[in-house]
Amino acid sequence: MHWRGGSQQEGPTSAMILITAATGQIGGAALQAIAASGKSVRALVRQPSRFTGAAGVEIVEGNFDDDLSLRRALDGIEVMLLAGRDSPQSVCQHRRVLGHARDAGVRHIVKLSAIGATPRSPVALMREHAEVDKEVMQGPANWTFLKPHLFMQNLLRAADTIRSTGRFAAPMGQGGFPVVDTRDVGIAVATVLGDPAVHAGKSYALTGPAATSYDEVAATFTTVLGRPVTYEAVSPDEFESRLLSAGIPDWRAFDLAHIASAYGNADNDVSPDLAVLLGRDSTSLESFIKDHEEIFV
Ligand SMILES: NC(=O)c1ccc[n+]([C@@H]2O[C@H](COP(=O)([O-])OP(=O)(O)OC[C@H]3O[C@@H](n4cnc5c(N)ncnc54)[C@H](OP(=O)(O)O)[C@@H]3O)[C@@H](O)[C@H]2O)c1
Repeated sequence: MHWRGGSQQEGPTSAMILITAATGQIGGAALQAIAASGKSVRALVRQPSRFTGAAGVEIVEGNFDDDLSLRRALDGIEVMLLAGRDSPQSVCQHRRVLGHARDAGVRHIVKLSAIGATPRSPVALMREHAEVDKEVMQGPANWTFLKPHLFMQNLLRAADTIRSTGRFAAPMGQGGFPVVDTRDVGIAVATVLGDPAVHAGKSYALTGPAATSYDEVAATFTTVLGRPVTYEAVSPDEFESRLLSAGIPDWRAFDLAHIASAYGNADNDVSPDLAVLLGRDSTSLESFIKDHEEIFV
């Protein structure tokens, strides 16, 4: 956990909170948690007709590429979550959102970042996070960074092959990674948004409760599903070729295939931050697989 002094005075918020990426895994979970707490919350969504949302949520149609919609979405907002999808456009898009947030007088920005976000990362999405994080730190709004490790939910992409072959391929070598459940991350985001002053100038490393190698991930699948599941360790280059053959864009294929190289040893340590924010243990991989068991059998 890193500590820094915030620059603006603020207290617990009763103000309208804006959630960007509200249809995403983290934004969606955060939105549910905030709405359940009874706080005023607005969701920026690209296609309101496809958005189920939560009761009591104000919905604003908007897009990071559309200035007018961002002005509308940020009108009257004091506290916001800045999140989105990785892409070569993400830095430019998030800069645009930050510009409108400044104009609107937003006083606290909670930024979804990532463990491993550094300017010299071999992986573009980590460099992009570092660039946006640096801009967020320039203020004038107070800020809090939530930096998750790899999401357990990434394993859902392997559901079809686990179901049909009992194997899954990944470019993760033999190292251990403290993968984290996005449901926990969303609740942590909501906790920070609900009382931002307490978290001003802090950066939280959000991990699961144990660093797990992908052989151990396979062993956990085997235990929970009650049938053998094995991990096929694939080199990053081979994995990248497979993704390119499947039609994944080259920038995305590279990042997905080389993601393990974005983490130094210290990045793979278990952090207490998430359990502190949740007030309970973070979700274990075993519980995650049990909760999604029907997808894998
Ligand atoms: N996957 C991991 O293991 C991992 C680990 C650590 C950090 N992260 C970070 O987590 C973030 C992704 O979070 P997530 O998984 O919750 O996202 P997600 O489920 O992929 O959803 C992305 C969200 O961004 C919205 N979005 C995309 N382009 C937009 C635009 N032009 N204007 C407005 N909204 C837009 C999407 O809206 P639509 O529904 O309209 O598409 C959606 O709500 C990334 O920054 C990633 O680097 C990921």
